[in-house]
Amino acid sequence: MAVGEVKAHRMRAQYEAWPYPQVPLLASLPSTHPFELHAAWLWDRCGSGPTPARPRLWIAGCGTFQPYAFAIANPKADIVATDLSETSLALARRRCLWHRQRHVQFAPCDLDDPSTWPAGEFDLIECYGVLMNLSDPLATLRRLRSRLSPRGVLRLMVYPHWSRARVFQLQRVARLLGLTANDRHHPAALRAFVRRLPLEHPLRYGFTTYADSKNDAGVVDGFLHAGDRGFTGHQLGALLQGAGLQPAYWFHRPWAQPDVMAERLGLGDRAQSTVLAYLDLWQELRCNFVVCARRADAPPAEVQPPAPHPLFTGHGHGLRHRLRLERLRWFGGKLPSRTGDERLVLRPAAARALLRGQPAPGVDALQLGATAATARPAHDDFAAEADWLDHAHSLRTGRRAPNPLYAHLFAAFELAERHPELQLPDLEAQMGRWLPWADPLEARPIVFGLTPYATYQRFRRSVQEHLERQDLGVASDYGSVRLRNDAAALTKVRALLADSPQLPRQRHDDATLRELYVLLCTHDDLFVTLT
Ligand SMILES: C[S@@+](CC[C@H](N)C(=O)[O-])C[C@H]1O[C@@H](n2cnc3c(N)ncnc32)[C@H](O)[C@@H]1O
Repeated sequence: MAVGEVKAHRMRAQYEAWPYPQVPLLASLPSTHPFELHAAWLWDRCGSGPTPARPRLWIAGCGTFQPYAFAIANPKADIVATDLSETSLALARRRCLWHRQRHVQFAPCDLDDPSTWPAGEFDLIECYGVLMNLSDPLATLRRLRSRLSPRGVLRLMVYPHWSRARVFQLQRVARLLGLTANDRHHPAALRAFVRRLPLEHPLRYGFTTYADSKNDAGVVDGFLHAGDRGFTGHQLGALLQGAGLQPAYWFHRPWAQPDVMAERLGLGDRAQSTVLAYLDLWQELRCNFVVCARRADAPPAEVQPPAPHPLFTGHGHGLRHRLRLERLRWFGGKLPSRTGDERLVLRPAAARALLRGQPAPGVDALQLGATAATARPAHDDFAAEADWLDHAHSLRTGRRAPNPLYAHLFAAFELAERHPELQLPDLEAQMGRWLPWADPLEARPIVFGLTPYATYQRFRRSVQEHLERQDLGVASDYGSVRLRNDAAALTKVRALLADSPQLPRQRHDDATLRELYVLLCTHDDLFVTLT
């Protein structure tokens, strides 16, 4: 089998055994909640103008829940939902039927194999949390672009490289412990093991604050995954550009929009990819990369005249939806928003205006006619990024090596110094600017905070001294280094494992034990001390 086939095989096995997400069949979604998934709203945000009366939607890698959410949001669309996992498709189909959504067609499809793709062009393609599972994301993205109608929109979610560091570190711990997606007991075993770590351990914090860690399919999808990865802002920018796509709208909190952040941080006319890479590195993204892109050869972006969101006018919708709107008209309500931090509050007066087909002041998110999102260049290449990432993740072997748990902190401080070509602002000047966005966790007992800002406040001297040191040597793995008090460290981690009866019984070599020691027992230290 070729490498790509092996990966698809492992991926299929995982999602057949653990269809994702794990949501009860009966859980229902109020019909106005997924308003940001409406094709007309997405086209508007991207400057694509009005959609066709009956748009074609493709949810590529749909999992068990998205077809239902898109069907609710787009009652007048033709929707095709595909996935590699037939179990996921069966669950998604059952959910749609149960909730009386009949305008979705389901088909198995391997995104790595174009011969299995549904035919024709689509006005909206949704590919959420799938690309990082594929063997050649760029090739697939190019093909997806070729299936967009000329003004069509592709909504894409990929994991960010730095913001997801804790999840990738936990994946590494799980692999070292012999926990995999192939054993039904392993999600519970990982959960129990992580609970044994100190409360303030960043990996325990990363696990418990991960929304999906409460259910087994979520633990597998996050921490026992058969092969996913993250992208830096630059990598994502290069991917979109290489596929002939132009980012048009980011599904991020207001201050994680590239334009807003570039202005606030004095980043001048840096490209979107640079700003997002920077936000990710500084742990200020607080979500995955979610971008709506158009074909690079799409007609110029346009701003439509203001109009209410089609879901809130009620025209031509079923009785249940009209009853929901009636409730909003009388009592108002709160609507979740993926693009803001807060839920959107819809007051009765605003709901009545929307229902009359009139603009409703104060609820811009529920109206069409938004100005096209970003004027900033899409992508700037960071030619040295591969070396830079290698450096940031390498095992550096001075007497005091940066703790890999905090690799992102060191990387954040080093980036501006090592790569003047990025023209990032002076670090000292930048510090004050970050203050308003600094992580609220800093007030809590997380040893080093998660943000470089917190570290800088407390450990200014040691970080600075480290940055001023000559280049350190690099080791390939933990087998080639010795920790200070090496024997005691290995004994400690052996005892921790022996005291965790839920873990698979296996013999670990010293290199594995050393790495486990660093990941599990050194969270109090910014540096790992070697001999
Ligand atoms: C993290 S889940 C996301 C599911 C859904 N998009 C969501 O956001 O809820 C990843 C999905 O991608 C699917 N997938 C993985 N590799 C695939 C491939 N090569 N072709 C099609 N789907 C794939 C999996 O079966 C799984 O349902």
